[in-house]
Amino acid sequence: METFEVRPLMEPLGRPIRLGVLISGGGSNLRSLLKYRDAGQFAAEFPLVIASRPDCAGLKLAQEAGIRAEVVARKRFKTTEEFSELIFSLLREAEVDLVILAGFLCLIRVPPDFANRVMNIHPALIPPFCGKGLYGLKVHEAVLARGVKVSGCTVHFADNVYDHGPIIVQRAVPVLEGDTPQTLAARVFEAECQAYPEAIRLFAAARLVVTESRVRILD
Ligand code: GRF
Repeated sequence: METFEVRPLMEPLGRPIRLGVLISGGGSNLRSLLKYRDAGQFAAEFPLVIASRPDCAGLKLAQEAGIRAEVVARKRFKTTEEFSELIFSLLREAEVDLVILAGFLCLIRVPPDFANRVMNIHPALIPPFCGKGLYGLKVHEAVLARGVKVSGCTVHFADNVYDHGPIIVQRAVPVLEGDTPQTLAARVFEAECQAYPEAIRLFAAARLVVTESRVRILD
């Protein structure tokens, strides 16, 4: 089997990381990242937010935060490729270092120059409870229906498959007796608010090495 090694970053950035954020809904991960940035938890700039539909509540959030926001409506495009080409050309123009999928519900084709530069967060410990159609409360409903005792969240590099790609950070939370999808979602979201900045910080510090399908975190 061919072995290859790709470093998302060879050197620590030494400046605030430029994040391009893709949303399809409320932009709750974007809100949390802005909060952490404002609290001095990590150094980031947000040159561009892209929404996959014009009615995303997250667009207002971007506007209020003074972030340039564009709508690239999925339904205007016949194929994933055409949709992705426009998105990545905007991200290139905006000179982003890293793309953050933040409740982005569309499949995208990651071009070679963005390989291991697109992160996604999923509200479960993958690989179970993920994939096409498993998003939002549906994830937590599936977790509760299966009766697992531990859930959590996963930050991973995105490839061209839903909720796939090398895993960077996972955080676990307990599933409690009497949990509803909503109470579990809230607990998992608290973990997400820690995990996403952590993964971004590791990336900006050039501490992530991807070998085949695994991420190694350098000391
Ligand atoms: C988060 O829980 C995240 O895990 C998932 O989308 C959720 C945020 O979506 N990828 P939204 O901001 O509520 O639309």
